[in-house]
Amino acid sequence: MKNICAVILAAGEGTRMKSGLSKVLHRISGKPMISYVLDALRQAGIRRILIVAGSNHRELRALHGHEAEIIFQKKRLGTGHAVLTCGPRLERFKGSALVLTGDAPLLTAGTIRSFLKQYGSERPSAAILTARFENPYGYGRILRDASGDVTGIREELEANEEERAIQEVNSGIYLFETSGLFRALREIKPSPNKKEYYLTDAVEIMVRAGAKVRGYLLAGGREIMGINTRKDLAEAAKLIWERNLDFYMERGVTVMSPDNTYIEAGVKIGPDTVIFPFTYIEGDVSIGRNCKIGPFCKIRAGSKIADDAEIGSFVEINRSSIGKKTLVKHLAYLGDACVGSAVNVGAGTITANFDGKNKNKTRIGDRAFLGCDTVLIAPVSVGAGAKTGAGSVVLRGRNVLPGTTVAGIPAKKIKTGKRK
Ligand code: UD1
Ligand code: MG
Repeated sequence: MKNICAVILAAGEGTRMKSGLSKVLHRISGKPMISYVLDALRQAGIRRILIVAGSNHRELRALHGHEAEIIFQKKRLGTGHAVLTCGPRLERFKGSALVLTGDAPLLTAGTIRSFLKQYGSERPSAAILTARFENPYGYGRILRDASGDVTGIREELEANEEERAIQEVNSGIYLFETSGLFRALREIKPSPNKKEYYLTDAVEIMVRAGAKVRGYLLAGGREIMGINTRKDLAEAAKLIWERNLDFYMERGVTVMSPDNTYIEAGVKIGPDTVIFPFTYIEGDVSIGRNCKIGPFCKIRAGSKIADDAEIGSFVEINRSSIGKKTLVKHLAYLGDACVGSAVNVGAGTITANFDGKNKNKTRIGDRAFLGCDTVLIAPVSVGAGAKTGAGSVVLRGRNVLPGTTVAGIPAKKIKTGKRK
């Protein structure tokens, strides 16, 4: 998509979020809101992307500086001013600008593609993606004349009663032929009430100058939802969690109770794995096939769980690998651990991986048997086929040799077994 340059508006203060964190950096399912917009653009094949940043410019550069140009909008004077700030990079661009807000994380690549297609077949000077909402409160309303042609967009704050009753809303996603856009942007005046330079005012200016402006209505339209408040954030998050679960269920994973199961995007899960209720799985986790996960467990980033393993109730796994057929069925914390296959991790087992300064590793060999309430103070290893008695505390560096049994506090060898 060489003739399209996307502009994501992300400089706003997000005052309605009442937050010290920039709005577009608020996370949904482990991922900043703006990253969803970037992903959708990339998936739709758009390569050239500008992000208009404000006081969040450092964070945005660190997050997306490798794939997008970050434009600094020093004073946040409104969405029209934000696009104008891109002038030096965009004005002479020989193509169209796809302008969108950074607070619309539900937008999909499919919708972007069909918007581009419609625009490409008609080639208007500007096109607005619109939706019809039962409750349009807060959105800009699409004004059309008697023949249905778009004549402008009216913001909530500036609208009269009749305009407020209009249910067709502005998604904040537009396509513009660039030279016409910049001509219009320069004519925008601050809005009467909010005193901002509204991008939406460019539409009326263009229409008055005789330009062809189209509004394309998106059926359903929920995905254009803009996140302005914490309540919006929760509503969008609900849909994103649902989307994530659909993805896994379509790939043969049983999710027993979708209402209280949370799987971040990017997790890999094999077929026939069953996820029991109240489970949270962070991104960057892979789980094999035929595993049982939960109920009430948390699997954190950097963990790998092999086929046929069971991770049961009240278990937390963090940056650890769990081998095939290994059972961690109740009340355990495994952090920075590398656990072999067919290991039995008894109830209450804890890897003490943090010594106040460093995170240390624990290694547990194949077929080891950890008695209930074992504490392993890392760095330490338990050899293949070794056993620990209930309540053992294995001190750091006191590696348990393969096949031996240790018990007590501190754990001492009570049996020298044969290596299996
Ligand atoms: C905007 C639209 C509204 C539309 C809605 C869709 C305007 C004036 N209004 O309203 O018609 O229905 O989106 O969600 O455009 N931003 C900047 N610089 C600024 C101001 C804002 O980059 O100076 C960014 C914000 O970070 C945000 C986006 O622009 O990502 C939209 O701003 P926001 O304040 O959320 O506008 P809305 O009131 O939602
Ligand atoms: Mg918004």
